[in-house]
Amino acid sequence: MARRRKLIAGNWKMNGLKAQMREARTLAARLKRASPRPKCDFLICPPATLLAPLAAGLRSSRIRLGGQDCHVNEAGAHTGDISAEMLKDAGASFVIAGHSERRADHGEASGLVAAKVAAAHRAGLTAIICIGETLKQRKAGRAGAVVSAQLKASLPAGAVAKNTVIAYEPVWAIGTGVSAGLDDIEKMHGSIRKTLAKLLGAGEADSMRVLYGGSVKPGNAGDILKLDNVDGALVGGASLKASDFWAIGKAVA
Ligand code: PGA
Repeated sequence: MARRRKLIAGNWKMNGLKAQMREARTLAARLKRASPRPKCDFLICPPATLLAPLAAGLRSSRIRLGGQDCHVNEAGAHTGDISAEMLKDAGASFVIAGHSERRADHGEASGLVAAKVAAAHRAGLTAIICIGETLKQRKAGRAGAVVSAQLKASLPAGAVAKNTVIAYEPVWAIGTGVSAGLDDIEKMHGSIRKTLAKLLGAGEADSMRVLYGGSVKPGNAGDILKLDNVDGALVGGASLKASDFWAIGKAVA
């Protein structure tokens, strides 16, 4: 089995004025002092307004930065949108694609998500593709089928482990304080890995990181992060406080 270094990714969503950058600096300072270092990579996806100043402030740290969404085009008449090239130019090396809040708030379907992931690759960014079922779909026994259909339709040609990360985020677990059960997470991650093997071949599937997201906190991170096929976490609320985010990274065994 490939050794997949765990990724602890923070999604600040539409939170954070300039003062919020203090939390990222605190995290960077802890990382610098830590001995031994946590066995994971840290990524922060701030609102686009904070990308460039954070990139300047974190230059000497190992913390990576990412965008939360991108347009499919490189440039053009698309008021309010941001291209993958712009994110890269501002200091990002990652971008989230197809977060359930974008799928719900902006009607983004998996075909568009695949085009955004391809745009991320064109710009040299690693894409984090979010997939996950709603509570209604889970209760109807359709969680596995929904997640595998989303995965297939959201992966563009050219997606490989080096430029793509998958994040399984059950919609009902996001921001609710209730994460999915450990058995359910392990089962879904196992089936995502199998679907990846069918789509990309065993080698790429074995190397690609599959994160869990949905109410990950310092208190449950250790148990979640040691499950088979869980290669990190996508963290919303708890990524806004350096102490919580750091504790989640430290929970990587
Ligand atoms: P949460 O959000 O950690 O606040 O549940 C996770 C996410 O939306 O990525």
